[in-house]
Amino acid sequence: MNRHLPSSSYFRPLLCIDEMYVSFDTSLGRVKAAQNICLELHERETLAIVGETGCGKSVIASAILQLLPSNASVKGKAIFLGRDLLSLGEREMADIRGQEIAIIFQNPSLSLNPIMKVAEQVAEPLQIHRRLPRHRAISKAEDMLSRFKLGDKASPVMYPFQLSGGMNQRVMIATSMILSPKILIADEPSKGLDQSLARQVMKELAGIKDEIGASLLLITHDLLLAKEVSDRIAVMYCGEIVEAGSSAEIFDEPLHPYTKALLNCLPEMGFKPIPGSSPSMIDPPEGCRFYPRCRERLDRCLLSPKMIKVESDDGDREVRCWLY
Ligand SMILES: Nc1ncnc2c1ncn2[C@@H]1O[C@H](COP(=O)(O)OP(=O)(O)O)[C@@H](O)[C@H]1O
Ligand SMILES: [Mg+2]
Repeated sequence: MNRHLPSSSYFRPLLCIDEMYVSFDTSLGRVKAAQNICLELHERETLAIVGETGCGKSVIASAILQLLPSNASVKGKAIFLGRDLLSLGEREMADIRGQEIAIIFQNPSLSLNPIMKVAEQVAEPLQIHRRLPRHRAISKAEDMLSRFKLGDKASPVMYPFQLSGGMNQRVMIATSMILSPKILIADEPSKGLDQSLARQVMKELAGIKDEIGASLLLITHDLLLAKEVSDRIAVMYCGEIVEAGSSAEIFDEPLHPYTKALLNCLPEMGFKPIPGSSPSMIDPPEGCRFYPRCRERLDRCLLSPKMIKVESDDGDREVRCWLY
């Protein structure tokens, strides 16, 4: 975490997503999953994308790494170190994936090889990409694993089925960190883990991320986790970013009615559900997409609001709402 450092705008942007659109052609119509996404991930910061399930968070991560299925169309740019990731060929992209930008998916049991010992899995990228001999790669992998709290009962010579979900999650994180990527994307890394374990794993992840000087793009529906570990937060609703700012400001002074409603859903805030349901992404509401569920709506909200900059003491603050 960089909270003790100056505002993240002091750091150079490492990844600039500019006017990115992602849609899927389906038999029911075109799903507009991400609309006009503009985001900057700065060096060494943690940026969280939060929002309800289905709002388009994972689609952004997959688009950046060109991991979307063939029914997807992607427009816009994602500039990483001077290169547009969205226009790279498969060979260049394969070099970037894992080495420069690593992604941790939510389900370790699908990502780990069941018949390979965990230290060997963590070591594999070193053998493939850095051409290290097996014994050196394994020793580095054991080193990396020792920084995670695997517990007394776990050891690097075990197989994934011998370890718990939390331990396997750490093995996956260790595998993605072993090549010291510049960006780590963690897509719902805490799903399936109980709250205290999720926080413990995130703390270990954040410690290693700081050590290797990486930036973290955290994708989560868990607002409190985002608050605890991120420097900045972008709030997404129905394919659009509706508000972005420092974590402290988003929590202390939310601007967008959706952000306010989302915070009110937290048990600490009275557990008040948002009336209505998430709209269709095939035929989203005209104007502001939150209009049908918004308590503060005005007539002009039937026109699409643009993202505007709002004055703030704490770095860049933006909101997509006619109230500002
Ligand atoms: N391959 C696909 N084909 C059609 N629609 C998809 C596909 N992948 C994702 N979507 C749709 O895109 C929207 C955003 O999905 P996703 O990014 O996975 O949401 P989140 O990660 O926020 O839960 C959802 O409505 C989802 O159904
Ligand atoms: Mg997702």
